[in-house]
Amino acid sequence: MTTDRLSITVHTQADDERLSAVDDIVRGFTSEPKTLDPKFLYHGEGSELFDEITRLEEYYPTRVERSLLERHGAEIVQSVQPYDIVELGPGNSAKSGLLIGPALAAGTLRRYIPFDISEEALREGGVSLMAAYPELREIAAVVGDFWRHLREVPPTEGTRLAALLGSTIGNLHPDEQCDFLWEIREGMLGPGDAFLVGADLVKETSVIEAAYNDAKGVTAQFNLNSLRAVNDLLGLDIDTGLFRHRAFFNTEHSRIEMHLEALADVSFTLSPSGVTVDIRAGETIWTESSYKFTKEAFEGTLAAAGFANVEWYTDPDDMFALALARV
Ligand code: AVJ
Repeated sequence: MTTDRLSITVHTQADDERLSAVDDIVRGFTSEPKTLDPKFLYHGEGSELFDEITRLEEYYPTRVERSLLERHGAEIVQSVQPYDIVELGPGNSAKSGLLIGPALAAGTLRRYIPFDISEEALREGGVSLMAAYPELREIAAVVGDFWRHLREVPPTEGTRLAALLGSTIGNLHPDEQCDFLWEIREGMLGPGDAFLVGADLVKETSVIEAAYNDAKGVTAQFNLNSLRAVNDLLGLDIDTGLFRHRAFFNTEHSRIEMHLEALADVSFTLSPSGVTVDIRAGETIWTESSYKFTKEAFEGTLAAAGFANVEWYTDPDDMFALALARV
C-alpha cells in the first residue's frame, strides 16, 4: 500500500507464512516441554490486547521506558543525528514520536522505517505519525519476521539509528539474543550508526510478577489468544476454556515464564502430518519468556554481539533501562 509518504511492504507472504507458522506450531507442540512461539500472541486481537496491557497500572515497562524517552530522547537523537530511524517491533509506534519529534527538530531525519509482524499495527501507527509529523518525508513500513526478513530493510543514505524498544530483546533466550543483536549490526548498521535498545531490569519478584498477572485479566486474555492463533492457522477447534494463564518469575534464569496450563486432558491431531498432541491436565504450553537484565549482563550481551561504547540510561528506581550503543 502506498500513499505519497507512507508505504507498507509486506514480506510475510500468506502461503509461506502459513507454512512456516504451521511448522513452528508443530515443532513446539512436539517438543518437551511443549512451547508456542511468542509471535502467536499478536495474532488477531493480540496486538490490541498487548496495547491494552501497556496501559495497565501493573505493567510498568511501557510507562517507565516512555519516561526515559521523554527525558533522554532529544539528547540521544542530537548525538546520533539520524537520517533514518529503523524501529524493530514498534507495533502501532505509540512511543516512536519521542524519537521522531526530536530528530525532526534536529533537522536530520528523513525517513522512519517501522518493522513489525503486524501489518494492521503498522498501518495504524503510520497513519497517526503522518498526521502528527507533517514534516516527516517518508514512512517506509516493513511487514516481516525478525529471523527471516531483517535484510529486506532498505539501506540508508545517511546515519542510521536502529531501535529495539519495550524489552522485546527479552523475549529471546540468551544465545538467540546475541545472534539477533549480531544480525541487526551486520544486516542493517554500518560505521557511525547507532543502536538503541530497551531492557527490563531485575527487581523485586512481586513487582515483576504483578506486571504479568494483572487484576483485569488482560494478560490472561493475551496469553489465551495464542491458542486462537493455533486454531486459525491449523484449522483446529481447541477450547481455550480448557486452559488457564500462568506467569511466574524463574529466578535461576532471570525470566518471566508465561504458560497455558491445561485444566483437563486435551488432545488434538495436527494436519497434514496426522501427529496427535496429548496434553495432560496440569501440563503447560510455554508461550513466552521475558528475560530481566542486570546492567552487567546486558552490557556483556551487547559486547558479545560486537557493540561498543554503550551509554546507559535508567530511571531513579532502576526499573528499566535504555542502552545506546555505537557501531
Ligand atoms: C514487550 C513483548 C517483551 O515481555 O513484557 C506483556 C510482552 N507479555 N505481557 C513483555 C508481554 C505479557 C512483553 N514484551
